[in-house]
Amino acid sequence: MSAPPQEEHAIEPEAPYRVERLPRDLDRKQFACGRDPLDTYFHQQVGQDVDRGYCACFIAIHVESGQIAGYYTLAPYSVAVNEVPLSLARRLPRYNSVPCVLMGRLAVATDHKGQGLGAALLVDAWGRARGNEIGGFALIVDAKDEEAKVFYERYGFCQCEPGSLRLFLSLRKGTGPAKT
Ligand SMILES: CC(C)(COP(=O)(O)OP(=O)(O)OC[C@H]1O[C@@H](n2cnc3c(N)ncnc32)[C@H](O)[C@@H]1OP(=O)(O)O)[C@@H](O)C(=O)NCCC(=O)NCCS
Repeated sequence: MSAPPQEEHAIEPEAPYRVERLPRDLDRKQFACGRDPLDTYFHQQVGQDVDRGYCACFIAIHVESGQIAGYYTLAPYSVAVNEVPLSLARRLPRYNSVPCVLMGRLAVATDHKGQGLGAALLVDAWGRARGNEIGGFALIVDAKDEEAKVFYERYGFCQCEPGSLRLFLSLRKGTGPAKT
């Protein structure tokens, strides 16, 4: 099993971004990804959700400018066994539900799109979810639309049923998000 990512680390040596847990005292209003719900959530709600223990939030900082370049959230989650894609459900014990990790939100700031940061945050999230000490069978995302779904599918996420925007990636098999 790969070691969990450190709390704060550069995505790669020499990388222009570092990832860290959302600090309390950060001006989050500077962030804009072009999707109102994701921007508003980050500006107004994520701090409370973190304080209440509903999720953890990690941010990518552009090292040179100090700008918030992206964020994602992770939370423990549970899904009914019959919602798990068949390709992942084989050999699951006969429990009613299985523990997972939900990546509730993922967003990259408009100025930083198209530079591989979204993909790097997916890998970072998978590593943290896999490395957490209380388990979790799959990383789940709820794609906001078909375009976002295509993005996740390119990195190996699979849907439970045709048309569903809920996508899964095993945390126990494979090497994590990899472009197909
Ligand atoms: C989706 C999002 C996170 C991608 O971030 P990004 O940093 O621009 O993406 P990357 O630069 O890492 O792109 C990696 C690859 O995915 C592709 N890609 C990026 N966005 C894509 C999309 N929406 N659909 C399909 N493929 C996409 C890129 O072309 C790239 O492929 P390439 O290497 O062959 O060129 C970002 O565009 C974003 O924040 N969008 C608004 C919010 C959103 O949709 N969040 C996810 C929703 S639930």
